[in-house]
Amino acid sequence: MPESSARQRYLITSALPYANGDIHLGYLVEAVMTDIFARFQRMKGHEVAYVCASDAHGTPIELKAVELGIAPEEIAGSFQKAHVRDLKGFQISLDMFHTTHSEETRRHLNAIYQAARDKGLIYKKEVEGFYSPEDKRFLPDRWIRGTCPKCKSPDQYGDSCEVCNSTYRPTDLIDARSAISGGSLEVRKSSHIFYKLSATQPFLQEWVRERRMPESTLQFVNEWLAAGLRDWDISRDAPYFGFPIPDEKDKYFYVWVDAPVGYIGATEKYCRESGRSSDDFWKDPACKVVHVIGKDIVYFHCLFWPSMLKTAGYNTPHRVQVHGFLTVNGQKMSKSRGTFINASTFLKHLDPEYLRYFYASKTRPEPDDLDLNIGSWEDPEDPGSLDASKSELVERVNSEFVNNQANFASRVIQFLNKRLESRLGALPAEAQAIGQRIREYFKPAIEKAYAGFDSAQAMRLINELALEANKYFQDQEPWKVIRQDPERARAICTVGANYVKVLTAFIKPVAPNYCARVEKSLAVDSLSWQDIRFDLAQRTIGQFETLIPRVDPDSVKAMVLESRHEAAAPQAASKELHPPLREEISIDDFLKIDLRVAQVLKAQSVEGADKLLKLTIDVGESDPRTIFAGIKKHYRPEQLEGRRIIVVANLKPRKMRFGLSQGMLLAADDGEDVLLLGVDAEPSPGSTVG
Ligand code: 2FM
Ligand code: ZN
Repeated sequence: MPESSARQRYLITSALPYANGDIHLGYLVEAVMTDIFARFQRMKGHEVAYVCASDAHGTPIELKAVELGIAPEEIAGSFQKAHVRDLKGFQISLDMFHTTHSEETRRHLNAIYQAARDKGLIYKKEVEGFYSPEDKRFLPDRWIRGTCPKCKSPDQYGDSCEVCNSTYRPTDLIDARSAISGGSLEVRKSSHIFYKLSATQPFLQEWVRERRMPESTLQFVNEWLAAGLRDWDISRDAPYFGFPIPDEKDKYFYVWVDAPVGYIGATEKYCRESGRSSDDFWKDPACKVVHVIGKDIVYFHCLFWPSMLKTAGYNTPHRVQVHGFLTVNGQKMSKSRGTFINASTFLKHLDPEYLRYFYASKTRPEPDDLDLNIGSWEDPEDPGSLDASKSELVERVNSEFVNNQANFASRVIQFLNKRLESRLGALPAEAQAIGQRIREYFKPAIEKAYAGFDSAQAMRLINELALEANKYFQDQEPWKVIRQDPERARAICTVGANYVKVLTAFIKPVAPNYCARVEKSLAVDSLSWQDIRFDLAQRTIGQFETLIPRVDPDSVKAMVLESRHEAAAPQAASKELHPPLREEISIDDFLKIDLRVAQVLKAQSVEGADKLLKLTIDVGESDPRTIFAGIKKHYRPEQLEGRRIIVVANLKPRKMRFGLSQGMLLAADDGEDVLLLGVDAEPSPGSTVG
């Protein structure tokens, strides 16, 4: 039970990661921040359901599925598994990680939609969109490419230019084309379904007045409200991966409609599995719903979402906590520099609690960006020249978490184990004042910081206390005192052990595994917020076990190099497209193949064959040869004439429907393109290859 106030119920969420990418260190800023809050509330004795899910729907996943020739459910399912694995690896204590592509989500989504219809908040309107006849679909702005109307840079997105940063409408692009097929676009009309957000403006104004978000976010939201809210287009035309809109043909809910409903779907699944009712969290006004999100999705969570919830009679968010973005060395994460780091790569090299501690020490309640400094490169062109030893990550974790806190715990526990038979004595007189200071100053201040998402302040206070603890132990010199007065040394170490216990409980929401090791060494039960007091005395502690080693800068470097390597390698999904290796052969087998350089003299289409080109080639013999190659879809004849290629020259001639083929050319096939193999310069036809 909580110490003083009544037991509170919380429904806590992190934003849903899209099911077409892995969890990376950017997303972990949010997951760690939410997890610290959830763990803190549980330690206080409150009831918590912390839920999340993969955001399965939308155009990118649907198109990826088309590209790979598999069902979108399959992609979403495999990323969901990876999300669960990675979040668990970082000790994110989710009670449920579901997917939005679930019956639970569909049921609540339909209920919300029906409520909006019943209240007259749904209507239809014709909307102009960009239709690609070649792809037979409307395309969102991101899937339209063309030349920027301002700076004339080619191949820019339909909504903004990456070169000059200007924003525009896809119609402004010069030569707008489909990013999928490259085909041209037409402006076409289609009937869309709208949610009358504007009608709920008075409710939102009142909802916002209760300051449920960081101050700077509140300012933005108030500006949006002052400008007046526009209604929301909630439908997308088929083909689309999402939930069909009831009573409509070929219309789907836009991914952003069902995404937050996924919070409720995940709660529903959690409740079913634990014998609860999701109404306890989403309908009972006693429950506090707390969302943690990034600053880019405020509009959805602070306007659309509370409006939909209110309309359908669900609880609206008690708090929407907003954070900034992660930068690495002051810049956006970069694949080529190796600073785009996946959760799984971090875990291969470093203890997750290093990152949890680092993020905790930098997380403030306002949505400022958070920088992860991992060192500096001696030669910016050479990724291998990274020196991580002076990085903020290494220095902060080693000096605060490892030296100031873990080493203090180690010293006290080991001294007790080795010199004082692991036995605590009575608390001496000075413990009174220390206990009081913790009760009256540290505990309420750290509690306030955690409750207000200010873990940076919590870490500062914990370090302040750890410094006091270290100073006490150093000044009291139990290693000297023990020679004359072992019982006084025991009393000093008893104070030390109480400091360790209190410091450990304070940092438990951030570093749960570290804390479990200290709890075991002290032989205390799992620490809760009530245990934050000086009361360990006259008992035996356990045996010391290693708590947490220093961060090794070489491991940081290895992680960065591996991330860079991963970014350069083809995506795992496309690897699966390539066939498995053929059976092993000996060098003698290989030497049987006579590879030669050939020059293409002539290339022609073959009537009646849509895949073949007929090539006349010079292989350095008295007469040219003819070969038929299945490359018509990839090369035009005029691209080939004069070019040098590689052929298998001793392949038995094959009689084909169109004539005799006297060899075979070599080409790479990546599943999409077929690319001819060539040579660097221009060796004479007939030159050997091997
Ligand atoms: O921005 C995103 O990554 C979304 N997938 C977040 C969805 S959060 C919630 F609304 F579901
Ligand atoms: Zn531009």
